[in-house]
Amino acid sequence: MALSTGTKNIKTAVFISGKGSNLKSLIKFSKLKKSPISIEIIISNNPKSKGLTFGKIYKIRKKIFNFDKHIKAEKEILKLLKKRKINLICLAGFMKILSKSFIQSFKGQILNIHPSLLPKYKGLNTHERAIDNKDSYSGCTVHFVSSKLDSGKIIDQKKVRIYKKDTLRTLANKVLAEEHKLYPEAILKIFSL
Ligand code: GRF
Repeated sequence: MALSTGTKNIKTAVFISGKGSNLKSLIKFSKLKKSPISIEIIISNNPKSKGLTFGKIYKIRKKIFNFDKHIKAEKEILKLLKKRKINLICLAGFMKILSKSFIQSFKGQILNIHPSLLPKYKGLNTHERAIDNKDSYSGCTVHFVSSKLDSGKIIDQKKVRIYKKDTLRTLANKVLAEEHKLYPEAILKIFSL
C-alpha cells in the first residue's frame, strides 16, 4: 500500500467483539501526527462489547451487526464500508470469522492482532496452550488476514517472556500490554514501505 504517512488518508474501520483495549490504543495512535490512519467507524457483532463506549468517548461512529445472519451482516457491512470509503480494516478482538468473499473484497487491506507468536497457536486459548506446553516465550502478532484462520502474512511480532510464576492472567496482561504497542507499530511499518 503506497500511501504516505502523516496525512491520515487511510480511512479505517475497527472491528471488535469485547473489551476494546486494542481499539483504544488504535484511537490514541490515530490522533498522533505521525499516524497515517483516521478511525471512521467501529463495527461490532456484540451489542454488549465494552469497547463500544469508546465510540461515545471519542465521538466515532459505531454500528452493531447481527451475525446470526452472517451473510446478510457481511453484505451490509460491505455496503457501509464502501459508503464511508474505508480502505483499511483492523480486526481487534473480533470473534467472528469473515467469509472468503468478504476477505476477497478487501484483499490486502484487513489486519488482525493475535495473542501468540504465529504460526504457533492459531485459534483460541493461546495463553493456556503456551503455559501448558511450558514455553519460555509467548507474544503477539499482527498479520494480514487471509481466508485461512490466523495464517496470513506476518507484519510484526513482539515476544514476551513466560516465567514459572506466570498464570493465565499475568501472561494475558503482559501480552495485551505488548499488543497495544505492536498494532500501531505494525501499521506504521506497512504504510511507510
Ligand atoms: C486480544 O488479546 C487480541 O489479540 C485478541 O483478542 C483480544 C482482544 O482484546 N484477538 P481487546 O478487546 O482489544 O481488549
